[in-house]
Amino acid sequence: MIDPTLPAWLVYCRPGFERDCIEETQAKPVEAAENSGYLVLQGKARLAYKQLTFARQLLTLHGEVRGLPERDRLTPLLDAIPPVPERYGALYLEVPDTNDGKTLSGFTKRFQPLLEQALRDSERLVDDPALPRLHIFFPSEERALIATSDPRNSNDALNGIHRVSMSADAPSRSYLKLAEAFEVFLDKQEQALWLKPKMTAVDLGAAPGGWTWQLVQRGLKVIAVDNGPLKGAAASHPDIKHLRQDGFKFRPKRPVDWLVCDMVEQPQRVAALMVEWFLGGHTSNAIFNLKLPMKKKVEALRTALDTIRGALNKKGMRYKLEVKQLYHDREEVTVCLRKG
Ligand SMILES: C[S@@+](CC[C@H](N)C(=O)[O-])C[C@H]1O[C@@H](n2cnc3c(N)ncnc32)[C@H](O)[C@@H]1O
Repeated sequence: MIDPTLPAWLVYCRPGFERDCIEETQAKPVEAAENSGYLVLQGKARLAYKQLTFARQLLTLHGEVRGLPERDRLTPLLDAIPPVPERYGALYLEVPDTNDGKTLSGFTKRFQPLLEQALRDSERLVDDPALPRLHIFFPSEERALIATSDPRNSNDALNGIHRVSMSADAPSRSYLKLAEAFEVFLDKQEQALWLKPKMTAVDLGAAPGGWTWQLVQRGLKVIAVDNGPLKGAAASHPDIKHLRQDGFKFRPKRPVDWLVCDMVEQPQRVAALMVEWFLGGHTSNAIFNLKLPMKKKVEALRTALDTIRGALNKKGMRYKLEVKQLYHDREEVTVCLRKG
């Protein structure tokens, strides 16, 4: 039962990671069915979206409507929208990232223009990205959770999922993971500034070449380190130099603009490698995956991140560290570490 006297949060996550969300927020689960892809949490006055790894979306929950009639869902939903804030900057109709949820997305697409028009007619919906967004989340066709998001403390993508498109020539679907990471961790201005043609990158654990392909598509020159072969167009691209070496031993002769790393290894070992690269001045920007096949994922992640923070803090280095479980991440999370 939701306690109406306490703030309530609606959080979306990858199905199966509900417990990890609870553990990292330290909030009380009010609704958290395993593999549902969402949670209702209470007992925390404030949560910061950027500090959460397993939460795809962080919303303030205002209430719910049960027993929505098939013939007229509009009236009860309009009645349930809270009077404050008076105006919303966007309307998102959302569903869980489950097979059942996907079957509802046809309905939400059809329903969106109806609700949107009703809200625009009453001037409650305007186009202003600075205003809170209204989210109506449908766990089923009969039930809706009414929530809002603060644009400065949430994800701006529908369902909390940044959609990226596949390149026909990409050697693996991992191409999408790095594409998504750039969308999530860098805004458009940063992408234009930090992913410029002729910049340099090292990709550790590069084979078959999806991440390397993402980098060369953005014009970067890449040293791809892996004992395994690069596939397809990545095997012969002039901007890719493939080295069959141990990714833990390789260091570039000159500093590179980016280090990316997708080696399947213990998170602690990858964390220590990142520290060596940053303290050794080999790069100022890194995106890397930490594989979390273990049960105690939050604990293993915390230990690895503490290693990085502890070592960089000790040297007085200024840096920005962000960690998210991306839509394309399975039993793993993606980290963006940047100097400055
Ligand atoms: C998950 S795959 C990488 C997929 C790649 N990011 C892509 O987009 O195609 C992991 C790769 O890490 C490589 N790997 C694991 N340990 C390594 C090491 N010590 N040195 C170099 N490569 C390593 C494996 O050979 C494997 O190709």
